[in-house]
Amino acid sequence: MELTRRKFLGGAAIAAAGAVVGRRVRRAGGAPAPLKIGLLLPYSNVYAVLGESITDGLSLVFEREGWSVAGRRVELIKEDDEVNPQIGLRKVKKLIESDGVDFLVGPVSSGVLAAIRDTVHQARRILIVANAGNDEISRDRCSRYIFRASFSNWQPNSPMGGWVAAHVAKEAYLVAPKYAAGFDMMRAFKETFGAAGGTVVGEDYTPFPVNEDFAPFLTKIKQAAPKVVYAFFSGSQAVRFVRQYDEFGLRGRSRLCGAGFLTETDVLPAEGSAALGIITGHFYSTLLENRTNQAFLREFRDKYKRTPDGFAVQGYDTAQVIVHALTATGGDTRDRDRLVDALRSVEFDSPRGRFRFDPKTQNVIQPFIYVREVREVGGELANVVIDRIANVKDPGTGCTLPG
Ligand code: BEZ
Repeated sequence: MELTRRKFLGGAAIAAAGAVVGRRVRRAGGAPAPLKIGLLLPYSNVYAVLGESITDGLSLVFEREGWSVAGRRVELIKEDDEVNPQIGLRKVKKLIESDGVDFLVGPVSSGVLAAIRDTVHQARRILIVANAGNDEISRDRCSRYIFRASFSNWQPNSPMGGWVAAHVAKEAYLVAPKYAAGFDMMRAFKETFGAAGGTVVGEDYTPFPVNEDFAPFLTKIKQAAPKVVYAFFSGSQAVRFVRQYDEFGLRGRSRLCGAGFLTETDVLPAEGSAALGIITGHFYSTLLENRTNQAFLREFRDKYKRTPDGFAVQGYDTAQVIVHALTATGGDTRDRDRLVDALRSVEFDSPRGRFRFDPKTQNVIQPFIYVREVREVGGELANVVIDRIANVKDPGTGCTLPG
């Protein structure tokens, strides 16, 4: 009953939006302008698979909408940022100035987001961040034109500091790549770990974006023999780290914990049994039983013949944000203030739970951060939820920058 009503109301809103666009178009005497969405994502290098997952999740929603939103045909313009801030900056300028995109989506790397933030803000172009977690974007470098549908780096890691101290051990060695995301995530973990009586016995930052060999760092960890190692790695670096950790014989000695990206579904099959027992914090697990997640898993598997990951959820949610906001404005993207207001009001059921933005930061409020342990489920590795922390908001207090 509830679904039928929602579907009816959604359909009516879309029909009304179409009529508005239609009226505008009839006056102008042409077809509605396409809705141009610039995807600034990595399609090569360490985070290539993340970029593909985000694109696939996003495409699933637009396909369901018949590649048309509020009467406007959806056009995706894909640019590979190569996980390189300078390349990202060049490509974002091209998307804004030459392609005239209505929305920007991306990037994956905090380094790229830091580089493009001012250009996006000054151009007053709407950016929906679909991964990059730099805390500063929810704090002193926030922008009225930037929304984040993924997470801030603080969000999965701050709850984990207290949880690890209470449930695993009070002595940890930290390791992460040497760039903004690694620093943010370790800082968030340390704050709550220390407050809960934990001690950090060592801390290392590894080369980024290229690093084949973790041996020098694993040697130091072996010598320190900590009770816990807390790590952030993602993409191809997660696979290498987890495998080398096992090869070094550390798996049975120091419990490996970390941010969820370390064992997400994109990397688990390649990590294999080396990942068993790793505990991570993340806003998603494929094992969530809510109806939206069940439908998402079915749709995604039918289309792509693989199991989705949290990055695909981020793409899926980003597209839903665009559909809901555009439906509310009747397809209008020119009146930026109206569009920003519509975006701030967006709310819907996501595979991760109820999706809404925190009005203070324009960053998603995580319905839960799930504490997950890698176990074998039905012959496959999966992130089994063993605990959860509700309603996790970035502590940003509001964007006070002008304009
Ligand atoms: C980041 O750079 O913000 C990031 C990259 C991969 C996974 C999570 C965060």
